[in-house]
Amino acid sequence: MTRASRSVASPRVVCIEDFRPIARRRIPKSVFDYLDGGAEGEVTLRENCRVFNDVTFRPRHAVAIAECGLCTTVLGFSLSLPFLLAPVGYSRLMHPGGEVAAARAAGKAGTPYILSTISGHKLEDVRRASSGPVFYQLYLMGGRGAAEASIERARAAGFNALVVTIDTPVAGIRERDYRNGMKELVSGSVFEKIPYLPQLLSRPGWLASYLLDGGLPGLPNVVIPGKGPMPLVDINAALAESAVTWADLRWIRDLWKGPIVVKGVLTADDARRSMDEGAAAISVSNHGGRQLDGVPASLRALPEVVKAVNGQIEILMDGGIRRGTDVAKALCMGARGVLCGRAYAYGLAAAGEAGVDRAIQILRTDLERTLRLLGCPSVNALDRSYVNVPKDWD
Ligand SMILES: Cc1cc2nc3c(=O)[nH]c(=O)nc-3n(C[C@H](O)[C@H](O)[C@H](O)COP(=O)(O)O)c2cc1C
Repeated sequence: MTRASRSVASPRVVCIEDFRPIARRRIPKSVFDYLDGGAEGEVTLRENCRVFNDVTFRPRHAVAIAECGLCTTVLGFSLSLPFLLAPVGYSRLMHPGGEVAAARAAGKAGTPYILSTISGHKLEDVRRASSGPVFYQLYLMGGRGAAEASIERARAAGFNALVVTIDTPVAGIRERDYRNGMKELVSGSVFEKIPYLPQLLSRPGWLASYLLDGGLPGLPNVVIPGKGPMPLVDINAALAESAVTWADLRWIRDLWKGPIVVKGVLTADDARRSMDEGAAAISVSNHGGRQLDGVPASLRALPEVVKAVNGQIEILMDGGIRRGTDVAKALCMGARGVLCGRAYAYGLAAAGEAGVDRAIQILRTDLERTLRLLGCPSVNALDRSYVNVPKDWD
């Protein structure tokens, strides 16, 4: 066992929440809050997790289960687990291993890694790091020329699907980032950075690894034709430049011949529109409560979307997954799989790849235990008969 994996072994880390204090101690406040926080009053962020309490289980007891099936398929890919690793921008700030470490951990576990456009490692290196499927999440940062180049690179490198995030016409206001000077630290002048430097200096271990890694990473996957890679910019500016419309989706559809996942669907209308535009799957998502505060929790939005889609395309969901029981509830409610964001990113921030391995292990053993306690032999057999859902949800 390495030092990093010891640092997140039981009993120090028994559940996902246990990563948070370790991550908080290891990384600067600005980076931790960027990871942990949400938009405005963080109502949707909290609700994403809380809402799982509204759905309760209906177990079938005294059932013998010899083998517990966690395998499923998503977009035709065989997965060992029904949870995927969601795109998490700026992962390289959390740990130098960043996107490469997370992709490697996902590959070992037999589940896909979704690489964000806002990534510090080259997409080719991320692809090579994983032995499993890897999807590329596209923002139109840098304009269509840059997007076209990255779609072509993703194709050449062997990415398996494209994920188009539709809930970022501008960035949500993440108040913690303003207070911590995230913008100044990432894109400000030396003079603008000065007031915020003490928080970096108070995490010497992180600071040393960050400097050894070359300091602020660029955006090697956003290459502007004739100009080169975009520098790592302030998140607000980046997202404001990356709004996707349905017309863009059609354009993307012509460029990318593989499957497309539309991420950020919360209503029946957007679900139907995604199908009309040729999406192979959608993710019911509110961006982890980081965009429009006050939208419903993802799980709460799921029944409306499940009904509208009526089995025609695959439905994923993300938001608030912290336990295997959460994964099971989402699957019972009609999701084919879920994406985990913070659940693995806390692990990455706490201990790099070993932390992501541990996060996946926790969710996997949680899920297997939940199936056994439910008396259900496989994730594919989970359905509404295993849960009580509040009457007004349908
Ligand atoms: C720090 C952070 C960065 C994120 N960056 C992106 C991104 O670049 N692109 C994207 O589509 N979603 C991004 N998301 C949203 C996640 O993909 C996912 O929707 C969300 O984290 C799910 O909620 P959860 O964190 O409760 O699991 C980010 C989320 C976090 C926490």
